[in-house]
Amino acid sequence: MSGKRVAIYPGSFDPITYGHLDLIERAARQFEELAVAVLEHDSKEGAFPLSERLAMIRESVSHLDNVRVASFDGLLVDFARQEDARLILRGIRAVSDYEYELQMALMNRKLEPDIETVFMLPSETYSYLSSRLVKEVCRHGGRIDEFVPPHVAVRLRSMLGPGARNS
Ligand SMILES: Nc1ncnc2c1ncn2[C@@H]1O[C@H](COP(=O)(O)OP(=O)(O)OP(=O)(O)O)[C@@H](O)[C@H]1O
Ligand SMILES: [Mg+2]
Repeated sequence: MSGKRVAIYPGSFDPITYGHLDLIERAARQFEELAVAVLEHDSKEGAFPLSERLAMIRESVSHLDNVRVASFDGLLVDFARQEDARLILRGIRAVSDYEYELQMALMNRKLEPDIETVFMLPSETYSYLSSRLVKEVCRHGGRIDEFVPPHVAVRLRSMLGPGARNS
């Protein structure tokens, strides 16, 4: 194992929002290296194909030297081990996130006792933001510019906005 403090931030990022980015920027200041990891076969039905999710994340984190973007399939702890990471980063927005996150963190600890899950809180400005809600707002023609970077907003509108091919 390299001595570096590598953390993995897993999720579906469908698409990345300012809430995710807030956490990524905080974590990039705390850990030597952060790998944002997109789950390939998600049980949630995605709006964006994996390649587009990765592209949107890469464009959003290009100003951060110690952040890289990857995708994984299978068990998160296996991916973490493969990446030499002993920290899993997750975000908690509200009490509603807590129960699910607790279950997952304890299961991952059972599977791999050497890997710790750490939780971070976003700025309160973003504590209500989820990819699902942003998509919902976009589908109905609402303003999404405060929730996602401009390049993501453009892709969201053409994918889901009123009159889009998939709306
Ligand atoms: N606004 C936010 N603030 C803090 N953490 C967040 C925020 N949005 C997502 N996260 C956290 O990021 C991780 C990955 O989340 P995920 O990819 O499921 O995003 P999501 O916005 O919850 O998407 P969905 O609406 O599809 O569930 C989770 O730990 C989630 O709690
Ligand atoms: Mg979620």
